[in-house]
Amino acid sequence: MMEGAPTYLPNPVEPLAGTAAWQAFAEAARRADRSGGTLRVLEAAGLSVDLSTQAQSPELLAAGSALLAARDFDACRERLLEGGIANCTENRAAWHTALRAEEPPGRVAGRIVAERDRVRAFVRHLDAEGRFHSVVHIGIGGSDWGPKLVVSALGYAGTRRQLRFVSNIDGHAIEAGLIGLDPQHTLVVVSSKSFTTTETMHNAQCALQWLREAGIADPWSHVVAVTANPEAAQRMGVAPDRIFTFWDWAGGRYSVWSAIGLPIALALGAEALDGLLQGAAAMDEHFAQAPLEHNAPVQLALTGLANRNVFGYPSVNIAPYDARLLHLVSYLQQLEMESLGKSVDLEGRPVTLPTGPIVWGMPGTDGQHTFFQWLHQGPEGAPVDFIICREADHPYPEHHRLLVANCLAQREALLRGKPASALEAEVAAKESDPARAAWLARHKAHPGGRPSSLIVLPRLTAHAMGALLALYEHKVFVQGVVWGINPFDQWGVEYGKVLATGIAKELSGDAAGEGHDPSTAYWVGQWRGRK
Ligand code: F6P
Repeated sequence: MMEGAPTYLPNPVEPLAGTAAWQAFAEAARRADRSGGTLRVLEAAGLSVDLSTQAQSPELLAAGSALLAARDFDACRERLLEGGIANCTENRAAWHTALRAEEPPGRVAGRIVAERDRVRAFVRHLDAEGRFHSVVHIGIGGSDWGPKLVVSALGYAGTRRQLRFVSNIDGHAIEAGLIGLDPQHTLVVVSSKSFTTTETMHNAQCALQWLREAGIADPWSHVVAVTANPEAAQRMGVAPDRIFTFWDWAGGRYSVWSAIGLPIALALGAEALDGLLQGAAAMDEHFAQAPLEHNAPVQLALTGLANRNVFGYPSVNIAPYDARLLHLVSYLQQLEMESLGKSVDLEGRPVTLPTGPIVWGMPGTDGQHTFFQWLHQGPEGAPVDFIICREADHPYPEHHRLLVANCLAQREALLRGKPASALEAEVAAKESDPARAAWLARHKAHPGGRPSSLIVLPRLTAHAMGALLALYEHKVFVQGVVWGINPFDQWGVEYGKVLATGIAKELSGDAAGEGHDPSTAYWVGQWRGRK
């Protein structure tokens, strides 16, 4: 055990690459069938997870289970689901599952249920009084992506209140967030776990000033806060009965299940928030109970490990074939990259295999006309997670048929590919010069053999959305266990914030500032003293 590392860490966290279990897994992956020739669909909490075109074999399945056993997975999962210390560097639980449990676990049940009831009573009260037809939600990262994703997805055809989401410190964001709204009928929701985040605190002050300038006698009556730091919200001036809390054992990027979900209830009704939690709780049940070989988050995680560390894909593409899932990629970027973007293992040693992949993407079919060229013919390519709903909610059946057709076709093209030899005849039919035909065929060839997963939701309901997000949360957790890293901290975000605070002082002339590299010094000089 490395000096300084906490004693409750699973013993030992061996460097992964050198372990027999990893080498057996990697070997099995290399020997596995990647032809997509065998249908493999897992059912979980109403979702279908198709891994048919991913590497698969009975040997790989067994090696995956053996790898998990070697990494103490069962104990780690139990520790997570029972609120043990899963976030070792902050000495905290990561108990987001408790937030969505129908009957939350004993020692936190009271406060979880009480806060849930407070949020719902508050929304019902506003609904009954017909108060606030607009909401400006101010928050960033995990205090923004969740509510923004869910409201824009489930409220695509309209919401009970107009919701504006403001996150960026760029003043154009708050300006656009307030423009055209009637302050008399606007509620400002300030969401921040720490209640110290620069962007959120400054944007909140702007919104308050906007309320004051509108002559609102008591601007605080238009403000609520959602935070794990209620004392700071009270110091800011938010009335205690307008502060909704959650707890430090819920990570920011895992917090949409808490009072952070308030905007969802304001926009769509409390039943949407309840549905979201129920869907996630159903996935938690599956994750906790399903045998490993049928456990969708576990198998999605092992598939990702093979793609990342055996087949060497540096990234994974997320392709939600649903225009309503506009913010899903950003949500998953934070979830995956802030969780798995780590270079040291639980004991503080350098990792021995690359960890979290780059997560990128865009809703389909827009992605097809943006970067699918790269996915099909680029030298590396990337595994793709296609996400689609069986049923649409719009009145255009032909559109949905074409959406499904394109989604399935892109998967097939990535898998099957088309070699130049198969294209030559086709090209030659249009091209009289055989040499040119052969040359052109080489440009049109698709390498194929590119894996993808297909996640099918029955319909885009709150329940299915909750299940989908929980699926990815647990996938990330499993990968963290195998890589032997802590997926629940994010120390890497602090350094830039500290430097920004210093430079901000320099720009306002409140500090001299030294030790910058020439470029930073030059531009600080360029901006210093400017309005
Ligand atoms: O800087 C990253 C981060 O700390 C995220 O982890 C978090 O979700 C976000 O900033 C916002 O933090 P807060 O909710 O404390 O304002």
